[in-house]
Amino acid sequence: MLKATSVLLDERRIFKPNYELVEEAHIKNWEAELEKGKDLEKYWAEKSEQFEWFKPWDKVLDESNKPFYKWFVNGKINLAYNAVDRWISTDKRNQVAILYVNERGEEKKLTYFELYREVNKMANALKNLGIKKGETVSMYLPMCPQLLISMLACNKIGAMHSVVYSGLSVGAFIERMNDANAKVVITADGTFRRGKIINLKNIVDEAVLQCPTIETIVVVNHTGSDIEVSELSGREIFYDRLIEGESDECEAEEMDAEDPLFILYTSGSTGKPKGVLHTTAGYMVGVATTLKHVFDIHDGDLWWCTADIGWITGHSYVIYAPLLLGTTTLVYEGAPDFPDPGAWWNIVEKYGVTKFYTAPTAIRHLMRFGEKYPQIYNLSSLKVLGSVGEPINPEAWMWFYKNIGKEKIPIMDTWWQTETGMHMISPLPVSNLKPGSATMPLPGIEADVVDKNGKSVDLGKGGYLVIKNPWPAMFRTLYKDKERFVKAYWSEFPGLYQSGDMARKDEDGYIWIQGRSDDVLKIAGHRVGTSEVESALVGHPAVVEAAVIGKEDPIKGQVIKAFVILKEGYDMDSSLIGELSKQVRHELGPVAVIGDIEAVEKLPKTRSGKIMRRILRAQEKGEELGDTSTLEE
Ligand code: WT7
Repeated sequence: MLKATSVLLDERRIFKPNYELVEEAHIKNWEAELEKGKDLEKYWAEKSEQFEWFKPWDKVLDESNKPFYKWFVNGKINLAYNAVDRWISTDKRNQVAILYVNERGEEKKLTYFELYREVNKMANALKNLGIKKGETVSMYLPMCPQLLISMLACNKIGAMHSVVYSGLSVGAFIERMNDANAKVVITADGTFRRGKIINLKNIVDEAVLQCPTIETIVVVNHTGSDIEVSELSGREIFYDRLIEGESDECEAEEMDAEDPLFILYTSGSTGKPKGVLHTTAGYMVGVATTLKHVFDIHDGDLWWCTADIGWITGHSYVIYAPLLLGTTTLVYEGAPDFPDPGAWWNIVEKYGVTKFYTAPTAIRHLMRFGEKYPQIYNLSSLKVLGSVGEPINPEAWMWFYKNIGKEKIPIMDTWWQTETGMHMISPLPVSNLKPGSATMPLPGIEADVVDKNGKSVDLGKGGYLVIKNPWPAMFRTLYKDKERFVKAYWSEFPGLYQSGDMARKDEDGYIWIQGRSDDVLKIAGHRVGTSEVESALVGHPAVVEAAVIGKEDPIKGQVIKAFVILKEGYDMDSSLIGELSKQVRHELGPVAVIGDIEAVEKLPKTRSGKIMRRILRAQEKGEELGDTSTLEE
């Protein structure tokens, strides 16, 4: 049976956007660059030259211990030095590095020189808190300058950060914090969202009761609330007080190319969240190169990626890549439709945003309000648009192309993952585009669609999306769990990286991503683990057992459909539904959007007791159940 989405994805139109800047583009010829990328080591070696190294590397790629690849072997480098310090002695010194804007219309600008001093102060303060090279600092912060400053301060002294998205809540926070063994957590009083202030500190207060390793809680007084911080306890301290009197000079730690840079947790299909570990030099080379090529970044650009820094898109493309390229990055705190659905377009006009990167779910949300809002504003500063997080349906692509790009500007549909660290499959501004296709693997990347046996499928066929060669920004392991790293990503197809996505190659070899092949949900582009939602539900006294699947949603892509077995004496009435939703929200946060909760007598399981969510999905859609031979009964 044909699914609605596959009908929509069968899109044959080709757009040859007239990229006006092709004369100055970093890459003028797509095919030629793809050809160049075939000599992998040479290609990435050249790209490593954009940075200042303390000591050059000896070897581009070490493949002696697959899948534990090493890049830029024995090179010594520091990320913060290259993202900030390096620009101080150039004419970028007084250029704005971070342009912070919020939904209340407030703004704050930090030049590279100001950022340099702030990072140094915070780096020194972290050292004074006892943070040493290799240790982890956790952050639970809204989109505010102190988040970027703290992340860079960690890089500067060789500490890792573990940022937890502020839309996740108590249970998710505890799990991530404890896995990362963080000694310090940096948080804020709250965040601005749709005209309200959302309290974050109370979530941290509740969570740290169950995080025994936390010694210090640093609190940014961000919203100006009269929040209580018990500085007398010695455990809580205001950010401003912490950096008071600190020197604004701090030597950059010489990091080995392969020293850990950060941990970022993401959801898998089973068990606890995965601590995706990225290391230093390869990540720097990968993110800076892809941003430069895919969005054709030049001096004078104003770059805006709307993702939250709490996700990989924010790590790689709100903070690191733009600063490594010495561009100006716009950091926005608030909702896309507040005070009205023209809020984002107002910002584009007001500041003259040139490159704009967002998610399909945001486009679909704004589409609902019609063409009226984008028409109010002058969007002529825009030169390249981008999309990330889930497949973009051709309808949303066309709306974006027409209303925001005025049928002139190319859209970069970038496929990648927390694990890949950088863009992997994406067009370039000079590419021929098809609405809904991420087009081709980027230069230096070899991605393919394979069948069950790992064999490349013919053009026109679908299968599993894999990566065939290592790439510089690839994650190196799962934190404290090498076995899971090997098993989850490198075992299904020996020698290939298994992405967890299904895809199709069309007649021209263009790749069409079709979504996850596992039980991971994609809610508004955010990865949500089924098992995390299930354990939140089972945490409620009324629930014996729970299974969740994704349910199609016109705006969010997917929402949660939960099946629960209730204890004797409980009925699924509206008050229980309310309580269960609240429970999930308390444990996981607003990312876990519940669409539907249904009480059932039984759940389909294998004989070994594993829930077969595949059966639930098929049932829900009224499709054939497929192979049921392993079903319990
Ligand atoms: C999953 C990774 C990578 C940054 C944001 C999400 C889906 C991502 C696309 C795209 C189709 C996409 C995939 C992937 N995805 N970008 N352009 N087209 N699907 O990172 O949370 O690690 O999620 O997002 O399913 O596996 P993430």
